[in-house]
Amino acid sequence: MKPAKEYIIFPLDVPAMEMARPYIESLSGHVGMFKVGLELFVREGHRIIETIHEKGGTDIFLDLKLHDIPTTVQRAMRVISEFGVRFATVHCGESRKMLEAAVQGSQGKTGILGVTVLTSVNSADIASAGFQKEYSDDIRKLVMKRATMAKEAGCAGIVCSGHEAMHVKQAFGEPFLAVTPGIRPSWETPGKDDQQRVMTPGQAIQNGSDYLVIGRPIRDAADPAEAAQRIAQEIAESLPASDPKES
Ligand code: C5P
Repeated sequence: MKPAKEYIIFPLDVPAMEMARPYIESLSGHVGMFKVGLELFVREGHRIIETIHEKGGTDIFLDLKLHDIPTTVQRAMRVISEFGVRFATVHCGESRKMLEAAVQGSQGKTGILGVTVLTSVNSADIASAGFQKEYSDDIRKLVMKRATMAKEAGCAGIVCSGHEAMHVKQAFGEPFLAVTPGIRPSWETPGKDDQQRVMTPGQAIQNGSDYLVIGRPIRDAADPAEAAQRIAQEIAESLPASDPKES
């Protein structure tokens, strides 16, 4: 099993390269992966990926949440797969064909993660979008249905809350990855920001999450590298005793 810090994905949720660079400098070696999202990628494009690669030692998760006709998704994923990124996202959406196209486009070089249901979406949204009542009454059913599509299409895993991770691991087995945002370390005051249904790193690991997306608790800390180390320590303490408790 991987060292504790490798569980941490730090999202570079900043608008430009000059703001991302200090985090790349200070957190390389303290987190396992940098997540590049739409805001930063739209401004900086491939340059940001190169900058992270130049620093070395930290994987990249390109979180662009693609959603288009299968051919377009396949062609975009083919380009992404040349970037040398570990993971990239695609919406599970309505079509397994789109997910299969993403996997095909990735050429086995980049792991495809399916986005099941955004956490910003609630039951009323699902109902008004025309879904059957069984899904609007219990969004987790829709998450699991879409996770099944992702699994069958050959995706590496899905993005899901820590609350869903256990169900995902039970249903699809160990190799299918659960990547979990909404993590707040045990020392932080609950309800400090907009994340709902949060979990501590330890709880998420115990539920089977394979990677934890942890942004603000690291970004807003006086010393981000020290915050990442403390979180890695919290993760290490939750791993089974046989695991190497490196941080
Ligand atoms: O830890 P923090 O709340 O700051 O993390 C925010 C990051 O997690 C953002 O990059 C956001 O895209 C990502 N995310 C999320 N909720 C989801 C999926 C991803 O907050 N359901």
